[in-house]
Amino acid sequence: MAEFDATPVKAALVEAGQEVEAFLGQALKGRHIPCELLTAMEYSLMAGGKRLRPVLCLTTSALFGLDQHDVMPFASALEFIHTYSLIHDDLPAMDDDDLRRGKPSNHKKFGEARAILAGDGLLTEAFTLMASVAGTIPAERIAPAIGEVAVAAGAAGMVGGQDLDMAYTGRDNVSLEDLRYMHSLKTGALITVSCVSGALLAGASPEEVERIRAYGKAIGAAFQIVDDILDEIGDEATLGKPVGSDQEQGKVTYPSLLGLDTSRELASKEVDTALEQLAPFSGPHADFLRGLAQYIIHRAW
Ligand code: IPE
Ligand code: IPE
Ligand code: MG
Ligand code: MG
Ligand code: MG
Repeated sequence: MAEFDATPVKAALVEAGQEVEAFLGQALKGRHIPCELLTAMEYSLMAGGKRLRPVLCLTTSALFGLDQHDVMPFASALEFIHTYSLIHDDLPAMDDDDLRRGKPSNHKKFGEARAILAGDGLLTEAFTLMASVAGTIPAERIAPAIGEVAVAAGAAGMVGGQDLDMAYTGRDNVSLEDLRYMHSLKTGALITVSCVSGALLAGASPEEVERIRAYGKAIGAAFQIVDDILDEIGDEATLGKPVGSDQEQGKVTYPSLLGLDTSRELASKEVDTALEQLAPFSGPHADFLRGLAQYIIHRAW
């Protein structure tokens, strides 16, 4: 990859992530949630994580002029959905992973039944949070944004991708096209909608929204390629999750189909596509989006 200094963008991501974290820490306060369920939900929500999806939403909304404070509940809802997907992804019936965000996986700590329910609770609470921006953001922008999030998170999006992931596991006749499609759903859809929802909430034009969508699709694709690479070459302490889990489970991944070098090349091409889409945009928010795209692949070099 071209010369890239990851330090400033990493620092900016950490800083933006801390703002998200402050919101997440109080988002469930005052809700009438049974105590042990709340503990399980907050355990995973507050276990760390890069907070990439909310930061993307905050940044694309800021690119089109929205105040970060106004969009924070909506952006944080994306982290609720992402966290739920991780809890369920780790379950014995799925990837059967015992470590997540540097801590025992939710089901290891609270048992499978509560982990399933903690995930369900996080997913549903996300919709409460997204609806809560009514009053500060015009309702005619919120409804399409929530609609897009629902599709991206659901059976035609992330859930569908997870289903394909399970169906492909252990198979030796999965094509690159199948894999690309599976990635676009299981990981790409939520990353894409994190970008698109920010633009929609800020009232971006249809052309602008489509550029941001194309950016999101490209970084989403790069992100899962990198995740697959890191499962082979990463370090458990840094990642906070097991390495080698994909191979152990017989997962079909980019490195398993194409090897590490070609996988890196493809991730890099996706980032080029993402950067092309941002060409018309300038200023600090556009620069941050450019930096995030490059940072995603930098992690696997
Ligand atoms: C991991 O996502 C799961 C995938 C979709 C590949 P992240 O790498 O964003 O995980 P956290 O949120 O930082 O823990
Ligand atoms: C993650 O894919 C997909 C979702 C959680 C939607 P992985 O199964 O590769 O994610 P990790 O590697 O366990 O974080
Ligand atoms: Mg998985
Ligand atoms: Mg997994
Ligand atoms: Mg993975």
